[in-house]
Amino acid sequence: MADEKLLFLCKSSDLAPGCVRKVERPEGALAVYNLDGTFYATDDRCTHGLSSLSDGEIVEGGEIECMMHFGSFDIATGEPRQAPCSIPLRTYKIDVRGDDVFAVVD
Ligand code: FES
Repeated sequence: MADEKLLFLCKSSDLAPGCVRKVERPEGALAVYNLDGTFYATDDRCTHGLSSLSDGEIVEGGEIECMMHFGSFDIATGEPRQAPCSIPLRTYKIDVRGDDVFAVVD
């Protein structure tokens, strides 16, 4: 879409596989993930509460587990996987250009 923008997230070499990092922006922070060399981005704020998902832990099956109440989401799709999370997490398309990882945002 014409009004899409690229938001720089990180250098691919700066986020190791199995790691997650918070990226601040005025509209709301994103969480960027490296799952076995593939990058993903979601909203950072848990849909169950005010917790930052980048403070959580990536667990088996490509899920991010929230540190507040231990609910979880599928990182690739944003679908809730573990209660008490029930509202899907917004996900963002990733665009990797060389060593730079971007999210496509509105
Ligand atoms: S705030 Fe994330 S599971 Fe409750």
